[in-house]
Amino acid sequence: MTTAPPPLPQTPIVLIGLMGAGKTSVGRRLAQRFELPFIDADDEIEKAAGCSIPEIFEIYGEDAFRDVEQRVIERLIGEGPMVLATGGGAYMSERTRKNIDGKALSVWLRADLETLVERTNRRTGRPLLDSGTSPRQVLQKLMDIRYPVYGGADIIVDTGQENMEVTVDKVATNLQSFIPASANKAL
Ligand code: S3P
Repeated sequence: MTTAPPPLPQTPIVLIGLMGAGKTSVGRRLAQRFELPFIDADDEIEKAAGCSIPEIFEIYGEDAFRDVEQRVIERLIGEGPMVLATGGGAYMSERTRKNIDGKALSVWLRADLETLVERTNRRTGRPLLDSGTSPRQVLQKLMDIRYPVYGGADIIVDTGQENMEVTVDKVATNLQSFIPASANKAL
């Protein structure tokens, strides 16, 4: 017996969550499962700016980064079904939130502090964590500010120490019940 492929979402699936939540790793696997393109918004921002995110922060400042981030995400969301991993601050912009809420399915990968501290330790290149204050303190503060806002996502999936595939399964299962509803979101 063959297994039917999952129904295709009609809109982009947008992953939101803090640095280290696993948006890129989960997003890549999810895209494979739904046979959709995977796009990382931070990569697209770097392409648009012609330099790395730490360089954008250093040369132009965070406000300029947020401006490019908004515009890049707006463009990507208009490009149709895909899995889009966004940077941790993207959903904090009201304009980006409106775009995502109106034209995409949002999935918050909600992680606890220990998971975030452990995972962000594995790579550099995140200016907000290179400020001199301990990453744990910065992440805790960002959790306090951002988690109430992330709570507006269509789907919330807890992620922690489990294997990435387990998280992907959880997201895919949740998406199945949301995909018919996504047909009502205008592209
Ligand atoms: C940021 C998160 C980063 C990147 C930038 C700012 C944030 O992306 O967009 O360094 O404000 O949380 P990741 O969440 O993919 O690390």
